Amino acid sequence: MINFDSFFTAISETPLSRWTPAFKDSLQQHFHNKQHGDLKKWLAHIEQFPQVIAKTTDFSQASIQIGEPGSLSSRQKTKLGDQLKLFKPWRKGPFDFFGIDIDTEWRSDLKWDRLLSHISPLKDRVVLDVGCGSGYHCWRMLGEDASLVIGIDPSQFFMMQYLTVRHFLADSSFYFLPLTMDQLPQPMKSFDTVFSMGVLYHRRSPIDHIMELRHSLRSGGELVLETLIVDGEEGYSFMPESTYGKMRNVWFIPTTDTLCTWLKRCGFLSTKVVDVSATTIEEQRKTEWIGGQSLSDFLDPNDDTKTIEGHPAPKRAVVVATAP
Ligand SMILES: C[S@@+](CC[C@H](N)C(=O)[O-])C[C@H]1O[C@@H](n2cnc3c(N)ncnc32)[C@H](O)[C@@H]1O
Repeated sequence: MINFDSFFTAISETPLSRWTPAFKDSLQQHFHNKQHGDLKKWLAHIEQFPQVIAKTTDFSQASIQIGEPGSLSSRQKTKLGDQLKLFKPWRKGPFDFFGIDIDTEWRSDLKWDRLLSHISPLKDRVVLDVGCGSGYHCWRMLGEDASLVIGIDPSQFFMMQYLTVRHFLADSSFYFLPLTMDQLPQPMKSFDTVFSMGVLYHRRSPIDHIMELRHSLRSGGELVLETLIVDGEEGYSFMPESTYGKMRNVWFIPTTDTLCTWLKRCGFLSTKVVDVSATTIEEQRKTEWIGGQSLSDFLDPNDDTKTIEGHPAPKRAVVVATAP
């Protein structure tokens, strides 16, 4: 069964330690008391993985490397390939387990490449990644020598994808907590860098989300906010009447100027838009590791500047801002 003892040991020597009882309460309430019906089955699958600790890892390349191809027998490798398929859909990646290439739906490395040169170096920083999905970017943060990385995501299924990697490591400074941002203790005012990528437009109240991000950062800490945006004037934000690119849970899509205003109204300093990029079918596409649909199914087949509903096609921005 899952316990978070190593996480509590890791934070015991940091400013986060004062929030230990609040973390415990929240995990009890939102995870232990609300476990997914398939959790036991998923954990049993992971227990069947080869009992091998990876001799080498590399989190600084596009694909997260766990172990070397030669460390497993070909029988073990074929079996592990089948076992990893039990955790489909693999959305955020890519990963390489002992030479098994998990070609995920998203080339998440492209987002990382767009932002890395614009943020403060992560070396020795305590980092929070809100809505971390499989944890792909958190591994990349460790690859940049962050001292402690906490990834949070309410999806217990994505936590299993994190555990597939964790299974092969002797230890790690990346901890996954199956919680949402509003379930974390506040105001922690502890993190050196906080990432919120691909979450803001899923929030019914984006301003509350930005306030929560602010209150988790120490004074002078850095926010890296990545979200869908639309073209238009300062003050404008787009709300789809129902779905956006077939997603039901999209609420506010601001312009970059509106987003900067939201951040400033929440007290952030020196907001800087460091990247604006259209999402392409090279970055989000169908692979054998997902099954089901991907971006090409979400766009108008006759006009790729529009979603299937006729909304502006996905474009995303990265904004870097400083906490007061
Ligand atoms: C579009 S994915 C982005 C994943 C990753 N951050 C990236 O940029 O590729 C959004 C993730 O946010 C998670 N999420 C949704 N609401 C959240 C909340 N309130 N707090 C934390 N995570 C949330 C979802 O479970 C999902 O994994």
